[in-house]
Amino acid sequence: MTKIETKPIDGQKPGTSGLRKKTPTFRQPGYLENFVQAIFDGTGGAEGKTYVVGGDGRYFNVEATQIILKMAAANGAARVIVGQNGLLSTPAASHLIRLNETDGGIILSASHNPGGPEEDFGIKFNTSNGGPAPETVTDRIFARTKDIGAYHIIDADDVDLATFGERAIGDMTVEVVDPVADYRDLMRSIFDFDAIRTLFADGFTIRFDAMHAVTGPYAKAILENTLGAAPGSVVNGDPSPTFGGGHPDPNPVWAVDLMNTMMGEEAPDFGAASDGDGDRNMIVGRGIYVSPSDSLAVLAANATLVPAYKDGLNGIARSMPTSAAADRVAERLGVAMFETPTGWKFFGNLLDAGKVTICGEESAGTGSDHIREKDGLWAVLFWLNILAVRKMSVQELMNDHWEGYGRNYYTRLDFEGVPVERAEALMQGVRDRLDTLKGCEAGDCVVSNADEFTYTDPVDEGVSRGQGLRIWYKGGARAVLRMSGTGTVGATIRCYLEAFSATVLDDPKRLDPVRHATMELAEFERHIGRTTPDVVT
Ligand code: G1P
Ligand code: ZN
Repeated sequence: MTKIETKPIDGQKPGTSGLRKKTPTFRQPGYLENFVQAIFDGTGGAEGKTYVVGGDGRYFNVEATQIILKMAAANGAARVIVGQNGLLSTPAASHLIRLNETDGGIILSASHNPGGPEEDFGIKFNTSNGGPAPETVTDRIFARTKDIGAYHIIDADDVDLATFGERAIGDMTVEVVDPVADYRDLMRSIFDFDAIRTLFADGFTIRFDAMHAVTGPYAKAILENTLGAAPGSVVNGDPSPTFGGGHPDPNPVWAVDLMNTMMGEEAPDFGAASDGDGDRNMIVGRGIYVSPSDSLAVLAANATLVPAYKDGLNGIARSMPTSAAADRVAERLGVAMFETPTGWKFFGNLLDAGKVTICGEESAGTGSDHIREKDGLWAVLFWLNILAVRKMSVQELMNDHWEGYGRNYYTRLDFEGVPVERAEALMQGVRDRLDTLKGCEAGDCVVSNADEFTYTDPVDEGVSRGQGLRIWYKGGARAVLRMSGTGTVGATIRCYLEAFSATVLDDPKRLDPVRHATMELAEFERHIGRTTPDVVT
């Protein structure tokens, strides 16, 4: 057992979802080790505890896993459950934490960010409820990174992560498990697998793009081998350390091949994709892309068709920038609706307290109380379950939904790689004018209200400030501005636009006036020299 002297390293503050940096940063001597030791120290030590460890298979996943195992052993942990070859999707890790009642888990992923020697890496601590550590915990971990003096690691050979079963490292037991089996059982306990099997047997076609990331093995095992989707339905299904050189982000920009297939002549009935670590989802029907905000609303509206939710929902939660489409579903169902800051960690308390059953974010995340993370394949199976029962196409289902509830037009503009001072100046410029914006005219829009979102957690009463600038326009449209907390280079400004229409259900230009007004009011041109975003979703 070795105690290694170390010094605090700047900048180890966890963001929206754990600590994310460039891989070379993580590979600097002591960088990963300091943070892992801070996780143990910041959560009361590892002595006698059990953990789940796994990652999305990106470059450095296996090496980092070995380091964590040796450090867990040196810190006195009793047992660590690891996915074979260090692989676990984020939802599967969350499930294993809950199923085995461990003290928490360490997930290695930078989600949808590219992977590779020069790309991104990340590490996140999840607590014993299976969910991302809340801010109170990440604050303690961060505080520890600032006064850390040593870390502990045992001097031992690497653990065999390829073979299932238990082995010892120091006094600790490592159990290597099939990453898929328990997760598949969980999905089987939630959805009507027989109905979905019949759907496929009747000729329904699907293309699931795993984007060379972690969901390949899960999707093959569940969709093809268990539910009978045609062999080859899962594409890009072998996890690769660099995600095949791509960007494993399931949206129309990065999953362009899938989009082209789904908009083409020979499109299958249903298309879906998931991200690096398997917690995001993209849903596409033949000829129609479903926005994540709409997807949340449709799942909620049809939830009782799924066996696990047949008795109805306790409530629905969405992140603040997500569209209000789900709010009207909640209203009609007569259940509570919660609006939280961006980031899955804010749903944890609501789920634990039984206040909500389904949650979602505009960033392609949907999930329920079955785990404490968003869950890409779960969303896909939810859609398949609904389509199997309602016997409609995706287009028909969406039309039916919009006719019943009206339509929230929605888009997000991302301005990436902005110098941090400029991005902050833009945000501050709006913040300084929040009180005077009311009544301002910009283009065809008039501001009806503006504020900065502060969230008070209804369960623990924790207050989170500075969670996004909101501008409402007369007629009900809304813009939200916030800075990304997951990027690794410069700043990313996200601008979320939304407008509701109860009657006009197909107007591609519906958001144009809101977009122009927001660019003008926030002075994008003056602050960052452009009004054209890098990514539009
Ligand atoms: C982004 C998304 C957010 C999501 C997070 C982790 O965070 O916007 O909804 O929870 O990734 O997947 P951001 O970069 O905006 O801070
Ligand atoms: Zn992810």
